[in-house]
Amino acid sequence: MAGSSIGTILKLTTWGESHGAGIGVVIDGCPAGLPLSEDDIQAYLDRRKPGQSRYTTQRNESDRAEILSGVYEGMTTGTPVSILVRNNDQHSKDYSKLKDLYRPGHADYGYDMKYGIRDHRGGGRSSGRETIGRVAGGAIAAKLLAELGISVTAYTKSIGPVCAEQFDPDEISRNPLCMPDAGAAEMAASYLEGCMEHKDSAGGVIECIVSGMPAGAGDPVFEKLDANLAKAVMSIGAVKAVEIGDGFLAAASTGSENNDPFIPAAEPVPHIVKASNHAGGILGGISDGSDIIVRAAVKPTPSIARLQKTVKQDGTPVQLEITGRHDPVIVPRAVVVVECMTALTVADALLTGMSAKLSSVKKIWGN
Ligand SMILES: Cc1cc2nc3c(=O)[nH]c(=O)nc-3n(C[C@H](O)[C@H](O)[C@H](O)COP(=O)(O)O)c2cc1C
Repeated sequence: MAGSSIGTILKLTTWGESHGAGIGVVIDGCPAGLPLSEDDIQAYLDRRKPGQSRYTTQRNESDRAEILSGVYEGMTTGTPVSILVRNNDQHSKDYSKLKDLYRPGHADYGYDMKYGIRDHRGGGRSSGRETIGRVAGGAIAAKLLAELGISVTAYTKSIGPVCAEQFDPDEISRNPLCMPDAGAAEMAASYLEGCMEHKDSAGGVIECIVSGMPAGAGDPVFEKLDANLAKAVMSIGAVKAVEIGDGFLAAASTGSENNDPFIPAAEPVPHIVKASNHAGGILGGISDGSDIIVRAAVKPTPSIARLQKTVKQDGTPVQLEITGRHDPVIVPRAVVVVECMTALTVADALLTGMSAKLSSVKKIWGN
C-alpha cells in the first residue's frame, strides 16, 4: 500500500491494521540528542486511548508503547525511531455479519474497488486505530518543538450545535469531551446522550493552536505550510474540512477587515508583530510569527446502531444494524491526533527551512 508516509525531513510512516497483531510507526529524521522515553509517548497515547468515558468506544486496549529502535540511554540517536503498540482486544467476531456488506460512511466499497481484497474486521488501515502511530510520532515532534519554545494545543471547539464560548486551558483535560469551556461541555454531553438514545452519532470541530512559532518556516509554492497542514490533518479518518485562521469566513469578509496590520513591537526580535490574526499565522505559505490556528471538521461516527439501508457485495439490498463498540462521537479522541499531525508538520517545516539561507548553512558547516 503506497501513501503510508508523510513529511520531508521528519518523516512518519505508519503501519498495521485494527485487527492485526499490532500497530506501529517509524519516525525518521529526528535529530540525535532529544531526551525520549516510553513514558513521553505513553502520555500522548493515553489521551487517545479508548474506553475512557461514556463517549468513546469501550474497546479495552492498554495501548502500551514499546520503543524498538532509535533511542539509547534515554536519548534519540538520530536513527529511525520505531514504536510498536500491540492489539489485545480486537473482538473480531463482532464484524462477521459485515463480511459481505458495504457499511455506509465507511471505506469498505472503495477498498474492494481498489484492492479486490479486504479484511472486513474493523476497517483495516482506515480504522481509527491507525492514528496510534501518528500520536506516537507526534509526541516526539511535540518534544522537539518544546526544545524550541513552541507549544501545540488542540481542543474540542464544538460538538453538534454546541460551541465552546470560553477558553480555560485547564478545563480541556478536566472534561471527557476536551472542551475548554465547562458549561459547553455539559451541554454537549446532554446533546450526545440524545444522539445515543436515538442510536445515532455526532460530529464537531477541533481547534489547534501553535504558540511560540517563529516567522519564516514553510515554503511559498508546493510545500506551503498551510497546504501541508491541510494535508496532514485532512489525512486523519473522518476529517472532512480544514481551515487556517478565519478559513471559510474569510470568503465573506472584505480586504480591509481580513488584512492583519503589521505593527512595531518592543520585543521579541524581530520587533514586528501583527495587530490581529485573521491569517492564522501563515502568509504566502510561510509562518508570520503569530500563533498558527488550524481547525478540523470531523464528521459524525459512521458506525451507528440505527437500522440503515445498504447493499451486499453482489448488489443485493439489505438492512444493517451495526453492533460492536464504536465512539458515539470521534472528536474527543481525535483532538490529540490533530495536535500530533500539526506538531509533525510544523517540526518538519522548521527542519526543512534550515537550509533556506547561506548564513544558516554556514552556522553549521562554515569555518
Ligand atoms: C480517533 C478515531 C477514532 C475513530 N473511531 C471510529 C469508530 O469507533 N467507529 C467508526 O465508525 N468510525 C471511527 N472512526 C472514523 C473512521 O476511521 C472513518 O470515518 C472511516 O474510515 C471513513 O473515512 P473518512 O471519514 O475519512 O472518509 C474513527 C476515526 C478516528 C480518527
